Amino acid sequence: MAKSKKILIIDGHPDPKSHCAQIAEEYEKGAQKGKFDIKKIDVRDLKFDPILHYRKASAQNLEKDLKDSQKMIKWADHIVVIFPIWWGHMPSLLKGFIDRAFTNGTVFELKKGKRIPTPLMNGKSIRVIYTQGAPRFYTRFVLRDSVWKSIKTNIFEFCGFSPVARTYIHDMHSRNEEAVGKFLRKIFDLGLNGQ
Ligand SMILES: Cc1cc2nc3c(=O)[nH]c(=O)nc-3n(C[C@H](O)[C@H](O)[C@H](O)COP(=O)(O)O)c2cc1C
Repeated sequence: MAKSKKILIIDGHPDPKSHCAQIAEEYEKGAQKGKFDIKKIDVRDLKFDPILHYRKASAQNLEKDLKDSQKMIKWADHIVVIFPIWWGHMPSLLKGFIDRAFTNGTVFELKKGKRIPTPLMNGKSIRVIYTQGAPRFYTRFVLRDSVWKSIKTNIFEFCGFSPVARTYIHDMHSRNEEAVGKFLRKIFDLGLNGQ
């Protein structure tokens, strides 16, 4: 029998009462129904300093919660990371988690004589789910999708994740209960199918 896909859900919203937290729960419910092997990190509940104070991450003592998170990242076949867009990027808490936990030797490796680091996340896929206030046309025609291109290329492709899929939910401020229910059902299905 094929072994079950190992899925790590990372909820990067600082507020447990957010739509993103609901999305993370709904994905988890779907994945449970799909009988996947699941672990979850709620970044807001971790005890760690979200500021990297040095030019090298290794200069800063790694808190236990970050060590455990690194183990989970290595363990997973598929990662789902969820956050809202704040000022054109992820919230600083999640960015701080990435600065501190995505270290040399964990998600990439610096090798002597090589100008480009070696990715260590090859063979793992990732889905990025984000919410935003702006409408879709603004993303496409004004921003030229720069937010996504930056996050996808600079962080996840750099580490070797492939494919780097995305689901983004726009117009968050004008969605009524029915519209929220509709996208939550889509998120459940993503979990159910382990995507
Ligand atoms: C500090 C802050 C900055 C924001 N910046 C942006 C932005 O740059 N682009 C955008 O489309 N929406 C922006 N928003 C709107 C959020 O993306 C939106 O409120 C969120 O996605 C709703 O989902 P939630 O309930 O999970 O927070 C911002 C909201 C906050 C609080």
